[in-house]
Amino acid sequence: MPARWVGRGVKGIAARMLDGTATAAAIRGELHGRIAAFRARAGRPPGLGIVLAGSDPGSEIYVRNKLKTAAEEGMHTELIRVPADGHVDDVLATVAALNGRDDIDGILVQSPLPEGMGADAETQVIDLIGPAKDVDGFTPVSVGRLVQNRPGLVPCTPAGVIELLEREGIAISGRRAVVIGRSDIVGKPMAMLLLHRHATVTICHSRTQDLPAVARTADILVAAIGRPAFVTPDFVKPGAVVIDVGINPVSDAALVRSWFPPDSPRLAAFAKRGTLTVGDVHPAVAEVAGALTPVPGGVGPLTIAMLMANTVRAAELRLAL
Ligand code: GUN
Repeated sequence: MPARWVGRGVKGIAARMLDGTATAAAIRGELHGRIAAFRARAGRPPGLGIVLAGSDPGSEIYVRNKLKTAAEEGMHTELIRVPADGHVDDVLATVAALNGRDDIDGILVQSPLPEGMGADAETQVIDLIGPAKDVDGFTPVSVGRLVQNRPGLVPCTPAGVIELLEREGIAISGRRAVVIGRSDIVGKPMAMLLLHRHATVTICHSRTQDLPAVARTADILVAAIGRPAFVTPDFVKPGAVVIDVGINPVSDAALVRSWFPPDSPRLAAFAKRGTLTVGDVHPAVAEVAGALTPVPGGVGPLTIAMLMANTVRAAELRLAL
């Protein structure tokens, strides 16, 4: 058990960077033996089916990374595309077919679905995914299990954040955690996981009054809002652990220049590509926080590692039935 690290950032001293890429590699490495054992027993690899409706540029990148990683781990992968102008029934029929397939252990329908599919399309789709194959942890059965702190498939991004905190030796029990964002994918499950590890948890959102003051109470601050550089140093108690869940592509040069010092390599990268992926946390927070996840290389790789872990788990549990 590593010593518990509680953070002691001092203004002017850069935060310790929490390396999500290395932790993700460790998590993936631990799956290799389990994947080999599953193959030997089942006579096939774990199988992951991903449904992508439309061609949202962000979703295309996420799905490509998920498929690539699963293939690298020796899993069977399938991508089923539904056209952007397709009907929600097309997605439902695809999910129903994947539910019935013996060689598919995990089903992931990339969110968001095209707006034209209707306001309740995501709910309809989530309700149809068989809970045993719910590697996103989005079905009501998975959510209920999470809330009741029972074993189950947990949403990948918050599960990855917990893995990072625990493997970095960062204490959770008894500490104040503030989660900014109340989405079903990150904010709500993140709060539950922290609560089950005995943190005192506050969830903030767009109607929270004096958000910086609430955020400043946090020993562990999780930013999951989807707004680039939203969390500025005035949100952060000196020494706090700051987890940046945001993955925001930005192409506005003036904005990018306002966030980074003139000699920053990030500015050079922007000049080369004309776009930059920026988190929800302002770069200047590194001078106040005790520890911080970078973007890229922080939470993103962990999300994919936990998708792999959930798929292996789902495969093992299905085999045991
Ligand atoms: N869109 C953004 N994050 C996720 C995720 O974790 N799962 C799915 N299915 N869609 C997403």
